[in-house]
Amino acid sequence: MVKELTDAECDELVDAPGVMAKHAARFLPELALYERLTGLPELSPGLADVVAATLPEVRATDMPGRKREQAGAFAAALGPLQHATLDWCSGKGHLSRTLAAHSQKRAEGYEWDPQLVLSGNRLAARFGDSVQIHCQDVMAQNLSIPGATHGVALHACGDLHRQLLRRGAAAALPRLSISPCCYHKTFHKTKDGIYKVLSERAAAYDNRLKPHSDDLRLAVRETVTAPAGVRAQTQTLSQWRLGFDGLQRAVRGDDHYLQLPSCSPRLIRKGFSAFCHWAAEKKQLRLPENTDFDYWLAHGIQRHAEVRRYELLRHVFRRPLELWMVLDYAVYLEEQGYRVRLGHFCARSLTPRNLLLDAVRVCGTPRVRHSHL
Ligand SMILES: C[S@@+](CC[C@H](N)C(=O)[O-])C[C@H]1O[C@@H](n2cnc3c(N)ncnc32)[C@H](O)[C@@H]1O
Repeated sequence: MVKELTDAECDELVDAPGVMAKHAARFLPELALYERLTGLPELSPGLADVVAATLPEVRATDMPGRKREQAGAFAAALGPLQHATLDWCSGKGHLSRTLAAHSQKRAEGYEWDPQLVLSGNRLAARFGDSVQIHCQDVMAQNLSIPGATHGVALHACGDLHRQLLRRGAAAALPRLSISPCCYHKTFHKTKDGIYKVLSERAAAYDNRLKPHSDDLRLAVRETVTAPAGVRAQTQTLSQWRLGFDGLQRAVRGDDHYLQLPSCSPRLIRKGFSAFCHWAAEKKQLRLPENTDFDYWLAHGIQRHAEVRRYELLRHVFRRPLELWMVLDYAVYLEEQGYRVRLGHFCARSLTPRNLLLDAVRVCGTPRVRHSHL
């Protein structure tokens, strides 16, 4: 089915996994449930509130436009804040400054890069924000967490956001609000690399889904917010990699893929043959004098067209996999005494990592299990 798609149809389906799921449901009937199972509430209160929560451009020095809007949308979705905030992996504190300005409550940040800490504190001082960023490794064993603060994390990767879930719940923080990303960055796995869920309920369930931590990359593989130029460059490089792949298999007489490192964008300007020479050098391979680069480039373009069509199917499982991860987090927080909301805090076009897990502590002392992190 996917093989017959035209380029235009393929372009349309790349950003429409729900439509793709409908087509694929002819072969895998469970996919008819796709929209129902992946649909989530919008947690954004509406445009006027989002604009009110977003730092005005004149105060957003050093803040990329998209980050300014993401921080504003995140702040708006949290509604009125009851507590001072602790911004986990804060970078320069774009979210901290947005939250402090919007809520009139103090914000503290934890960030381990001293340069970002310095720049963030300078920015906060310059604009008179009630923000203090601390140079802190959030994975440190002796980490101390201020009580009665609202833990927030915007796009802290993998174990970093899982650490806030665990340490924040163990410290009985009154509220935890997290927009997760890069799920695959984890040490939280078995020795065979199988990802370990957080919640007792999911762990007790004899789960048929046992993803390898590398498989979790799929959940964040999309370029929906990349500018057209970056998308075009990514496509060219994929075609070249596949072209070189065909060439190296022919030269070596060995039908196996060779992993290549990432290459400098400068190489793109030098053309396909220069790319092949670079790749061959990396793999200590001699290319024959008479290599027909036009032939192998055409081969790469053809293979890329096929791979792109097969990837449409793979990408149908991207959001379900992400939700599977985040629902485990939600159940974990419920087990720790929180009431949890899960939804989108902004449009996918602003960031595809637009899920917000917002947990308010409702009861009891935290049930501390031994930490795997
Ligand atoms: C993807 S950025 C997100 C930054 C910020 N939350 C935002 O949305 O702009 C992740 C940040 O985590 C920081 N980081 C990575 N590992 C860390 C650790 N172990 N402790 C503290 N910060 C860390 C990085 O330096 C980086 O600034």
